[in-house]
Amino acid sequence: MKPRHHKFAAALVGALCMAGLALAAGPAKTAKPAADQRAPLVLLDAERHLVLEEMRNFLAVLQTITDALPREDMKEVARAARTMGSGAANEIPPVTVAKLPEEFKVLAGGVHTSFDLIALDAESLGDPKHTISQVAEMLQKCNACHGIYQIKVGKDVRPGSRTN
Ligand code: HEC
Repeated sequence: MKPRHHKFAAALVGALCMAGLALAAGPAKTAKPAADQRAPLVLLDAERHLVLEEMRNFLAVLQTITDALPREDMKEVARAARTMGSGAANEIPPVTVAKLPEEFKVLAGGVHTSFDLIALDAESLGDPKHTISQVAEMLQKCNACHGIYQIKVGKDVRPGSRTN
């Protein structure tokens, strides 16, 4: 770079830094951070715990699957996927499921069905690339639901129910 360009680059970096500082300082003083606009699922604390535990299990199984794929260990992929399939024991009690909106249940069911298919195809096709594309497709369902809902802890609002 020629010296003149050096100067210009330095000035540009300086200007960008100033703009960055102004941005960082500006809105923080005037506006509050935007509130979470996603639809709240109002659950008891223990119910929230169960739902989030299932979520962490989803993530743990995805970790196992992505660990097994480069080794082409399709048996392990199938085994792990099946633990989150629709045949797996459901940890969420019916009373909690009853509080969840229909769309939530459809999306959650879709994820379990995806795990079923991942397990079946891992066994019958044994093709890691195919499995990866199935995982990517399933992750869209995870993302879709996360874009719509948040969990809030609140009192049980159903008539005749205990409050905690
Ligand atoms: C039917 C809706 C739905 C689907 C499908 C879904 N999630 Fe979630 N997930 C949620 C909600 C709601 C939360 C809580 C978000 C909040 O309150 O900010 C959550 C939270 C999580 C968390 C945070 C857990 C914690 O301990 O805080 C992880 C990790 C997660 N999800 C992973 C996944 C993965 C991976 C998938 C797909 C395999 C998935 N989820 C599919 C609704 C869903």
